[in-house]
Amino acid sequence: MTQLSAAHDKPSDSGKALYGGKGTRRITVRDITLAKERGEKWPMLTAYDAMTASVFDETGIPVLLVGDSAGNCHLGYESTVPVTLDEMTMLAAAVVRGTRRSLIVGDLPFGSYQEGPVQALRSATRLVKEAGVGAVKLEGGERSHRQIELLVESGIPVMAHIGLTPQSVNAMGYRVQGRGEEAAQQLLRDAKAVQDAGAFAVVLELVPAELAAEVTSVLHIPTVGIGAGPDTDAQVLVWTDMMGLTPGRVPKFVKKYAGLREVMGDAVRAFADDVVGGAFPAEENSVH
Ligand code: KIV
Repeated sequence: MTQLSAAHDKPSDSGKALYGGKGTRRITVRDITLAKERGEKWPMLTAYDAMTASVFDETGIPVLLVGDSAGNCHLGYESTVPVTLDEMTMLAAAVVRGTRRSLIVGDLPFGSYQEGPVQALRSATRLVKEAGVGAVKLEGGERSHRQIELLVESGIPVMAHIGLTPQSVNAMGYRVQGRGEEAAQQLLRDAKAVQDAGAFAVVLELVPAELAAEVTSVLHIPTVGIGAGPDTDAQVLVWTDMMGLTPGRVPKFVKKYAGLREVMGDAVRAFADDVVGGAFPAEENSVH
């Protein structure tokens, strides 16, 4: 093996694991593929703006998803359905600008790829050219395989998304998918279809842990679980859920790692009290 090809075969420029590696170049889909071969697990988070994304990037999160969960978590919609391609392009561009190492995956929103492969290519091209993402994500297994094939043929890496697909909420609701023999077989067919179409990874959302483990063992591409138990290759959470910023109840599969809503509320109250009571600005916050 030449020195050059040896260097190219390294999983990352630091030669370390995907998570926590100190390399300076962007993670690529090839790094993700090699991580599955090494049996390495990795974390993924959503991100919708440059500053938050920069924290995740500095922390070493290898893959950030500019998810259309931005609809509920960032843009104030009731679901992901109203999110537009213009909105996704703007958010994805901000996340790319705020990061240096993470692979940025941009979600194709509802209505931007369902018409067929050509529409999918047109939409994905915008995310790649205008926002600078390294890969796109779209929902659907067998039903989306033609879209995935054309994107991959055109040089755009695709992360697929099966199980619960929130863009179809009006048809399927928010229910566990893949329960029962027939539904489990369909999920397996969907997983194989996206792999055969060339997807580099697949999100499994809200499926029984045992089924997710089976899918993970039969696929050679990595599975990214959300509500899919402990045996997927990677895990993703919506950042506002895991930080405790999302108001109200969050799904059972979410683990809260912080209480940002309380922290921010306390800080805002302290500021407002200082203003009302005259304690802010103090001498050290003033210029003369
Ligand atoms: O939009 C999103 O955040 C997602 C994740 C839940 C996988 O699709």
